[in-house]
Amino acid sequence: MPPIRKVAVFGASGTFGTPITAALLNAGFEVTIVTRAADGSSSSSSPPTTSKTFPAQVASVVEVDSYGDVAALAAALAGHDAAVSVLGPAALAHEAALVDAAAAAGLRRFVVNDFGWGQNPRCFPEMREVGARRHVAWDRARDRADADPAFTWTGVTIGNPIDWALRRFPRMGFNVAERTAAIYDSGTETFTGTTLEGIGQAVVGVLRHPEATANRFVKARSIQTCQNELLDAFQNQNNNNNNAPGQQQQPWTVTHDSVAGLRESSRQKRQAGVAGWILDLLVAQLYDEGEARCVVAPSRQDSDADLLGIREETAQEVAAKALGLAG
Ligand SMILES: NC(=O)c1ccc[n+]([C@@H]2O[C@H](COP(=O)([O-])OP(=O)(O)OC[C@H]3O[C@@H](n4cnc5c(N)ncnc54)[C@H](OP(=O)(O)O)[C@@H]3O)[C@@H](O)[C@H]2O)c1
Repeated sequence: MPPIRKVAVFGASGTFGTPITAALLNAGFEVTIVTRAADGSSSSSSPPTTSKTFPAQVASVVEVDSYGDVAALAAALAGHDAAVSVLGPAALAHEAALVDAAAAAGLRRFVVNDFGWGQNPRCFPEMREVGARRHVAWDRARDRADADPAFTWTGVTIGNPIDWALRRFPRMGFNVAERTAAIYDSGTETFTGTTLEGIGQAVVGVLRHPEATANRFVKARSIQTCQNELLDAFQNQNNNNNNAPGQQQQPWTVTHDSVAGLRESSRQKRQAGVAGWILDLLVAQLYDEGEARCVVAPSRQDSDADLLGIREETAQEVAAKALGLAG
């Protein structure tokens, strides 16, 4: 397969789209951003409300009215080698249309929207129901590749987006603003995570190795860790941080909680129709002791990290990123 050079990105201004786009540009790909028009009539419930800014180095920005318009999308994708979908969950209903457009435009690779747990066989049954909606586009990509071997796809399974998630979700057990930690059960259950840096590199790695990554989910990981190791790392950051003279960092306050409590909280919220039940369940899944429910690959060798060029990161590095002390 000739090298992939021209890449279109959907969702480039999003949480993961931003580091992915930056990594593609840094790696020398020619990047087109496909985005909804500012006054777009996207059939999704929430058209964009703010004007978006994209990196100056992108080759072009193409606006479409709707991610459901296959003909318009195919026109936007014409002439590209590959496309990456990293649209937010709210756009899930459009993912199959993106696959159809990529195939119609003659793209050689479509990176389907996973950036999650892939086909995790160890997830809780409730999560399986939530994840099933994502399979529609994955199945469509498989069908398109079966029908036309020139069209190929890849899914990037990242597991926990660890530096971003630790900062964003105190429910994971670390409130970085208030320096409080809630350790679930013994705090020893390990899980794998991929940092924003690793997520960007994973997509670069897929496009640099089209043969080795064709028609499969690749397994990304930057670290395998547990809560106790992360707590040590957060506390060490405080010790090592260059505080202003005379200024003492507050030690972290540590409390204890349980996975059973998380599961019960999730169940009650779901029954009451209250938001947050999925997050509770995701965290319960992460720390469910002895179950390895959130280990994308049990070792670096079992993952695609080396192939994709994702570096191994330490708990110290991840904690620094979660605290906003490192990029
Ligand atoms: N592993 C995990 O724990 C984890 C955590 C978070 C996310 N994810 C996954 O990562 C992927 C990307 O998520 P993200 O958080 O980066 O996405 P995001 O920031 O919420 O959104 C990315 C882009 O999607 C488009 N978009 C947003 N809402 C839309 C709507 N209602 N209709 C149409 N387009 C819309 C926007 O692009 P334009 O404005 O340019 O159209 C937006 O910039 C998803 O598959 C998500 O499920 C996984």
